[in-house]
Amino acid sequence: MLRSLLFVPGDSERKLAKAAASAADALILDLEDSVAPERLPAARQCVAEFLRGARERPAQQRWVRVNGVQSGEILRDLAAVVGARPDGIVLPKVRSAQDALLLAHYLEALEVREGLAPGSVRIIVITTETPEALLAPGGYAALGARLAGLTWGMEDLSAALGASVKREEDGSLAAPFLAARTCCLLQAAAAKVQAIDGVYAGFRDRQGLEREAERARRDGFTGKLAIHPDQIEPINAAFTPSAEEVERARRIVAAFEATPGAGVVGLDGQMLDRPHLEHARRVLEMAGVSEGKGS
Ligand code: COA
Ligand code: MG
Repeated sequence: MLRSLLFVPGDSERKLAKAAASAADALILDLEDSVAPERLPAARQCVAEFLRGARERPAQQRWVRVNGVQSGEILRDLAAVVGARPDGIVLPKVRSAQDALLLAHYLEALEVREGLAPGSVRIIVITTETPEALLAPGGYAALGARLAGLTWGMEDLSAALGASVKREEDGSLAAPFLAARTCCLLQAAAAKVQAIDGVYAGFRDRQGLEREAERARRDGFTGKLAIHPDQIEPINAAFTPSAEEVERARRIVAAFEATPGAGVVGLDGQMLDRPHLEHARRVLEMAGVSEGKGS
């Protein structure tokens, strides 16, 4: 599981170098909204070179956000970067899971061309950027093992809605965007993949970020997108289970193992059933990342 995924504009060598030295679990090298259209060819080249270069931190994954399937640019984006072996592709502006399936077909062809194992270039989908995607939710499980996670964004959605405000004065999400966030969480759970919370744009507001990441973790997200290196440390901390949580999870798993076949056990005077076991396993899985085992 990826705790922190740092967006880096694909045309900035300086930021790419800086991002590689960060503690982000993954980088998202961006060819979409953070790159001016006239810079796109240069950005593709820059991203491919970066991917071909040595890894500063071997465990750090490298993903590429391409342009959407309707952009007229996605095939050129993919043709430029897949041979440089990114860990995966982040797909924006989908209208439904069908758009992600189209990307999967493109990847199948390119994997053959590049001699890569089928399914090895994975996919993370940004599921909430169009109203259509929110009205046609679900179906992401059809991507199978290629799908690594789902995430959400509100910039494009707010433009499509004509919404003038995305957050209330206290920083909490306005209703339409809270609905989008919840939709992403449900879609990820239905597809049995990681739910990754969206961006917190106020990159100087550490407290606000910590609060939002904490809420995300509480609700079931297991990672969060970042746009600035300063956001990585608080995000990693929020999605790393504490020693006490890990200890308790170990004890829950042990209690079930000690009574094979039991659907329910008692621990510290409390009833624990299967959902508790599932939750404990998830905590241990999340802890595995922070101990450096990767996903
Ligand atoms: N990745 C790598 N390095 C980054 C970075 C990022 N996302 N954001 C900032 N940095 C670097 C800066 O280059 C700067 O390095 P330098 O001192 O060596 O020049 C350092 O971190 C401090 O940056 P700071 O001055 O605090 O911010 P900024 O004004 O330079 O940049 C943004 C602010 C928002 C433009 C920048 O954070 C950014 O480009 N973020 C990513 C945007 C993006 O990809 N958006 C698409 C998804 S929503
Ligand atoms: Mg966008």
